[in-house]
Amino acid sequence: MDKLKYTSDLYGKCVFKHAVDRLELPQGFIAYHKKNFSKYFNLSQDEFKGLNVLETGAGCGRHAIVLALMGARVVAADLSPENVERGKQLKKHYKLTNVEFHQHNFMAPFKSEIKFDLVSAHNWVQHTENPALVIQNLLSSLKKDGRIYLSLYLAGTFRFFIAQIAREILKPEWYDLAIDLVKFHFPTGFRSFNNPDDICMEIIFDDFFVPYCNTVTYDIVIRDAEQLNCKPITAKPQLNDINGVDSIYLRMGFVKCGDLIRSNSLQFTRPIDEFESSIDHVRESSALAKKVIARLRELNDPAVSCSFCLGLFRLRAETSRDMDGSKKHKLLQSYLNGALTNSPQSISYQYDTASLWDAAHKNNTESPAPPGAIYY
Ligand SMILES: C[S@@+](CC[C@H](N)C(=O)[O-])C[C@H]1O[C@@H](n2cnc3c(N)ncnc32)[C@H](O)[C@@H]1O
Repeated sequence: MDKLKYTSDLYGKCVFKHAVDRLELPQGFIAYHKKNFSKYFNLSQDEFKGLNVLETGAGCGRHAIVLALMGARVVAADLSPENVERGKQLKKHYKLTNVEFHQHNFMAPFKSEIKFDLVSAHNWVQHTENPALVIQNLLSSLKKDGRIYLSLYLAGTFRFFIAQIAREILKPEWYDLAIDLVKFHFPTGFRSFNNPDDICMEIIFDDFFVPYCNTVTYDIVIRDAEQLNCKPITAKPQLNDINGVDSIYLRMGFVKCGDLIRSNSLQFTRPIDEFESSIDHVRESSALAKKVIARLRELNDPAVSCSFCLGLFRLRAETSRDMDGSKKHKLLQSYLNGALTNSPQSISYQYDTASLWDAAHKNNTESPAPPGAIYY
């Protein structure tokens, strides 16, 4: 499989929730990201005016628009041509002249006549084959004393424990089936979970189907950055027990202290094994998860596997506001135990969705959810 093309197609197909039925970005989204950029670039919001910013892995362009609204001169680039097109539509909608969109694969350096003051990488570098190489390419676009902002997937949270189980079961060619089955698992959409950024359609395919999902720790990112001649400009947060936390991003800003020194000995090159843990209840879940993965791989039934994984997502969704790791893992263990003992048709969470799906398709019935509802 051409994983790069699959990534591009997947993100091209993905309808980001803010782009479903309107081009106008929510005011809350704009305000949140202005503050976020200001925090991690360690600059006041006014200081963005006139700076040259490279916004990378730009998706449908929503963060590029925020940076442009802050007065920066923005060059945005993404792998997926469909997303580049969406970015151009947003630019037109906002009547902005200080932002441009390009298609680019950051596995290679970005060609530009200028070196940028700032490089932004919001939630995408982890979806590449070699994040450490991509970060070096991003740094090559930055001028000396320029700043880079990275938002990455922090290892050790409940989200990526669930994601690792699903990723070891699902096959890329089951994507359309899984999306079809979402209607049965979440017939009224995702609004009721009241966690729209983390519990939504995008995250299902982002976590379960995108070919690469490299989680990382603060220590690794800071060590790698130091090897690349960069120093942190924001502090590493104090994090204790995070196995009960649903999802938190690893966010940091760095300054490029001199010429880029490339390195082959960086650590952010492969995913962290979320099943390895010193915490008893996580280890118990890991042991069970490995058995379930083996059972489902042997069954090799697309509808059963997809339903089981959507059930995992539902379990995560229903507990996403809870922080008690031991309680969450107990619930997960009972779901995993069910998947080991129940008949294949009833191993998904709450519903026998595999049969529901079969029945719906045999009778050619309409999908139970109104179009669009599933995105929210
Ligand atoms: C999770 S989305 C994030 C999009 C955007 N930053 C956001 O937060 O809305 C990941 C994006 O990374 C892009 N991407 C993945 N691999 C890439 C690569 N090698 N070069 C450039 N963009 C890439 C995808 O096309 C997709 O739009």
